[in-house]
Amino acid sequence: MALRHFLTLMDFSSDELNGLMTRAIELKAMQRRGEIYEPMKNKVLGMIFEKSSTRTRVSFEAGSAQFGGHAIFLSPRDTQLGRGEPIEDSSRVLSSMVDIIMIRTFEHEKIERFAAYSQVPVINALTDMYHPCQLLADMQAYVEQRGSIKGRTVTWIGDGNNMCHSYINAARQFDFKLQIATPLGYEPDAALVAAAGDAVSLGNDPQAAACDSDLIVTDVWASMGQEEEQKAREASFANFQVNESLMKAAKADALFMHCLPAHRGEEVSAGVIDGPQSVVWSEAENRLHAQKALMEFLLKESLIKSG
Ligand code: CP
Ligand code: NVA
Repeated sequence: MALRHFLTLMDFSSDELNGLMTRAIELKAMQRRGEIYEPMKNKVLGMIFEKSSTRTRVSFEAGSAQFGGHAIFLSPRDTQLGRGEPIEDSSRVLSSMVDIIMIRTFEHEKIERFAAYSQVPVINALTDMYHPCQLLADMQAYVEQRGSIKGRTVTWIGDGNNMCHSYINAARQFDFKLQIATPLGYEPDAALVAAAGDAVSLGNDPQAAACDSDLIVTDVWASMGQEEEQKAREASFANFQVNESLMKAAKADALFMHCLPAHRGEEVSAGVIDGPQSVVWSEAENRLHAQKALMEFLLKESLIKSG
């Protein structure tokens, strides 16, 4: 059996993703009860961050500690990765020393190359193309609040970015309908949209996309690495703010999600993100539980592989 990685939501079956969610809910309850559970005793997580992070770093590091394991934070500033050591060489070396690795980087192709040379499972902790760990947390937050997301309508407002791409994959894997509204020129990857078929519809009208929706989701207008585009994007995205008027187009009990960090007054109004429909704090907390479920699963799978 091949070594398992989690580079996109499509690396797992729909049943496996639903299983992870159920397990994350159990792990959350265990954590709340103060139960000690240490499946990572003597195991080490390597964490490579080429971009900033609050939630991802703390959730992976705290999760490893709670599981009885250890996490090593590696940044390009103080490793040879930042001085041009080939990704393939770094992968061979690091994966001979640690048990599991997570990477946050720019080009998705880079994490694919790293995984191809790794002896241990690799987790995508965000690339320019995808952010699958956030989707595990978001799907868990939806289920906790409203039950199954299967057959529901979800709306993506804003940039056709890494989060949008992962929502497209989630629509396929969790079987919901995704209505996307982006400004012209900021559409998601066309091949991904095509692969999702009827599960995804694409347009440029936020009100129409939000119509009768069960869940409204947005993200920053300029992602990490696009800081110099911020001003131009503010003009293009001006009509794409999730505010009280847009939420009114959705169902009365619709939820609001945002992976954070957020810019109040840009992609979301303070009234919405801090209001009663917002579940952003559950999404953030669930990163911890969802990734613990993910690490537990991948470590078990790699034990099976090594016999
Ligand atoms: N949502 C998310 O991934 O947050 P960080 O950038 O803080 O890790
Ligand atoms: N789209 C954002 C998500 C941050 C968690 C970014 O890539 O910066």
